Amino acid sequence: MLTRRVFSLVAVSAAVLAVTGSTGCEKKSDDLVVGAFLSLSGSDATFGEDTKEGIELAVDELNKAGGIKNKKVKVLFEDDKSLPQEASNKVRQLIDRDNVLAILGEVASSRTMSGGLIANTKKVPLVTPSSTAVEVTKDRDYVFRVCFTDDQQGDVAARFVWETLKKKKAGLFYAAQDNYSSGLAASFKEHFKKLGGEIVVDKGYQKNETNFTTYLSELKSKEPEILFVPVYYNEMVQIARQAKQAGIPGTMFLGGDGWDSHELIDGAGAELEGAYFTNHYAPDVPWPNSASFVAAYKAKYTYQGKPKEPTSLAAQGYDAAKLLFDAMKRAPEPTREAIKVALSETKDFAGATGSLTIDKNHNANKPIVVVQIKEKKFRYTAQLMSQ
Ligand code: PHE
Repeated sequence: MLTRRVFSLVAVSAAVLAVTGSTGCEKKSDDLVVGAFLSLSGSDATFGEDTKEGIELAVDELNKAGGIKNKKVKVLFEDDKSLPQEASNKVRQLIDRDNVLAILGEVASSRTMSGGLIANTKKVPLVTPSSTAVEVTKDRDYVFRVCFTDDQQGDVAARFVWETLKKKKAGLFYAAQDNYSSGLAASFKEHFKKLGGEIVVDKGYQKNETNFTTYLSELKSKEPEILFVPVYYNEMVQIARQAKQAGIPGTMFLGGDGWDSHELIDGAGAELEGAYFTNHYAPDVPWPNSASFVAAYKAKYTYQGKPKEPTSLAAQGYDAAKLLFDAMKRAPEPTREAIKVALSETKDFAGATGSLTIDKNHNANKPIVVVQIKEKKFRYTAQLMSQ
């Protein structure tokens, strides 16, 4: 009797395991299942971690409020290790193995490009929280974003330099092989020249470069009034430290949204004192929905023992998830096709990062925030719309 009971218990657990699959989560069969692929390890790990926290906050709030049509939403997270090839593999797995309804991710444009290609081919809607490269949504019917594009970001950065900082000679320094970095540098160049500005030096560095000293002395010798360096935070930390050695002050630098990480401040906050960058959001941005998001986020997460200030990654992750849930609620049935249609009909969605309408190219037109690094903190300075 006893052995039989033990046997049936084992059989039941085996069956449960078989249903939940290798992810080991207690997924119930009637949950609405969404996938997320993010850089939870590797060179851009903070991008993935922060985004995941934003998504999880949105999921908690949704499920506490009753879910979608009486069903709970479950998000399956996959780590692409900050590698484009892994991004494709993970998206394929989420679709073929887990049969997800829709996908959230990635942050870096290069990885949303590769993961998005799979999702688009397999006709699964994908919402990227923060990939800004222009080509991410181009000719991809199933790919959407809740952020501005690098064409818009480059325009705003150029106008800020020209109109607010009143500088006329700029230099460019960027990662030559990266979609995001080289695309944003090119956009800034185009817009700055249109305003009448001069690009006195334009330098792309090679992949995996860690010694920037030769580049930095060349950049300095061309005497720009400002250096636009739209790279990710990990490389920016190295560049800023080596720039200090080369006698280039923090106030010379301007960046893009790729700077947004606690690790930029921890690694080179002092070296970048006074620098500006364009971003999706700042913790002290004066938008009504931001305040409630910041409060909820700080109540849930800590960093170095204190309530954690959300980065724009977290805010964008939160908004991407909420926008997807909003579309899932509006979709007449829980199918990929109906969700895709509902996503494309999104109007005046009130997010923590501003109000947005999805346009015909599946992009979001939103205000762009200019942030300044002051005493090792990100401080809101201005907001501008791309023209
Ligand atoms: N916009 C960057 C890209 O497209 C990613 C990013 C967004 C990084 C926001 C930091 C903050 O690659």
